[in-house]
Amino acid sequence: MPPVTFSLRAPAKINLALHVTGRRADGYHLLETLAVFCELGDRLEFRAAPQDAFAITGRFAAGLSDDDNLVLRARDRLRQETGAARCPPVSILLEKNLPVASGMGGGSSDAAATLRGLSRLWDLHLSDPTLAELGAALGADVPMCLAARPLLAGGIGEKLVPLQDWPALDMVLVNPGMVVSTPNVFRRLENRENPPLGAPPRQADYRAACFWLAGTRNDLGAPARSIVPEIGQALDALREAGAGFAGMTGSGATCFGLFSGPRAASRAAAGIRDRHPDWFVEPTRTMGAPA
Ligand code: C5P
Repeated sequence: MPPVTFSLRAPAKINLALHVTGRRADGYHLLETLAVFCELGDRLEFRAAPQDAFAITGRFAAGLSDDDNLVLRARDRLRQETGAARCPPVSILLEKNLPVASGMGGGSSDAAATLRGLSRLWDLHLSDPTLAELGAALGADVPMCLAARPLLAGGIGEKLVPLQDWPALDMVLVNPGMVVSTPNVFRRLENRENPPLGAPPRQADYRAACFWLAGTRNDLGAPARSIVPEIGQALDALREAGAGFAGMTGSGATCFGLFSGPRAASRAAAGIRDRHPDWFVEPTRTMGAPA
């Protein structure tokens, strides 16, 4: 029997590189991305309860509505698919530690954790492919958030190839406090058919990762900066603080910098925070490929 109360992490997703390579007939864009997941993230708590409940706490709780949340859509979808009889009432608490609409896949990661958490609480024994299919219906990034390991994604983000040996990386996340609408950024793209990503190096370390990333792009960077010019300032701040590579994740506005170790990352984060006390600035570490 699963425990009646437990919590799961919903890690931040970072697109280290994101190439837009085409567009489908339905308007969705074809992507090639290398995505990694961080120790930093939201947290969800699940508890069997006499009736359904949902509450949001945490630094960024205020940015979210609790009646149209991906967590609830994931819960309802799972019930619909498996039948209400197997899915008794549940109380869910979301600790929102990541800025909303910030390119870190927070909502998608929350939805992924909800699918995993409820599948466990309700003892549904759903396979990974079944969860991924349910997740894809909730958002293009949900399947990769279910995988939550270094991976390459193609299609509209749902075709996943796990990386066998991508390293854990020390990182600083910087968000200048502006919300960016993903559809808006995609709409502003000037070029939708860009060169592909190519294969990342095998057995890369920090230096090799930075070197390879320097030849990649985030094609959503230019359209996002045209909406939020502060993205350029966040990237400059990370480079000035000594990042070996700095980029923007997803459709922004969060930027990340890679650092040679945890102390370098903490020092850089403290320096950026001093100069920009109103920005979200967090050192973290990405999860490497499992051994
Ligand atoms: O799937 P998700 O809800 O995260 O996507 C938000 C919006 O971003 C979509 O409605 C679509 O406008 C845009 N999008 C896209 N191509 C993708 C992913 C998202 O055009 N591959």
